[in-house]
Amino acid sequence: MPQHPQSMGQPAPLSGLTQLAGVIGHPVRHSLSPAIHNAAYAATGLDWAYLAFDVAPERLAAALDGARALGISGLSVTMPHKEACVALVDRLTPSAERLGAVNCIKRVGDELIGGNNDGDGLVAAIRSDAGVELAGKRVVILGAGGAARSVIDAVARSGATSVTIVNRTIEKAVIAADRYGNGLAGAGTLDSLDGADVLINATSVGMGDDPASPVPAALLHPEMLVVDLIYAPRQTQLLADAAAAGAATLNGVGMLVHLSADVFRWFTGIDAPISAMRAVVDA
Ligand code: ATR
Repeated sequence: MPQHPQSMGQPAPLSGLTQLAGVIGHPVRHSLSPAIHNAAYAATGLDWAYLAFDVAPERLAAALDGARALGISGLSVTMPHKEACVALVDRLTPSAERLGAVNCIKRVGDELIGGNNDGDGLVAAIRSDAGVELAGKRVVILGAGGAARSVIDAVARSGATSVTIVNRTIEKAVIAADRYGNGLAGAGTLDSLDGADVLINATSVGMGDDPASPVPAALLHPEMLVVDLIYAPRQTQLLADAAAAGAATLNGVGMLVHLSADVFRWFTGIDAPISAMRAVVDA
């Protein structure tokens, strides 16, 4: 019997055939992506490795040329490079083009293709982790920044009945709804929570040590699913209030896992080992 060069579940010994992927950001050392993707390679027995590259903004173009020259197979893209990558890749997927932002790059030959699946990761997490189909639902999205835009774009294409954007700066909500809302989204106020089925927080309120919630607890009700894009902490004040109100809750871990799984599939062409990827984040 020929021996498989490595056993499943173990990291591949690096070789002349190892394919390299990674994440570019600035800073990037707190990224969970290397742990998630290397766990996925180990679980599937792929001879791939994934590293974090801290790339200063003024060296982004050189870094992408380097990726072409070195034959790097794929890159995840995080802050502050998501917008700047749009002009530096050779082609864009439709969602990256609509959003004017790239969160992953696949190399095909000498060409770099920029994609954006942040919002799709959230919709996938809502479907498979919370068991909720957005089709036919009334959705309220808080925020109008970079994270919110990809969520608005994906939710507005999910079959939701209505999408209301609520933001501290109302003008930004109007622009985001017009630009990314697929003709369905509109700007509104927290009053729209009254009949909402799903509330999604895509603001930074509640992140890290911030004890605040973007929504008064009295506006939360048991018939809604409350989703927070934030995963640190795992339970924000918003999710604690939602649970106390009897609502279903979902934190940002699922989005991170599902968008990473999607990137893994796009880069490698094989199905993602979602439970191994989730186990790394949970640890
Ligand atoms: P990201 O890329 O993470 O989305 P961003 O583009 O800076 O970051 O967007 C941050 C979002 O959180 C915005 O919607 C912002 O509201 P404004 O558009 O009014 O700035 C929202 N946000 C941040 N701090 C907030 C606060 N203290 N209260 C309410 N909204 C806040």
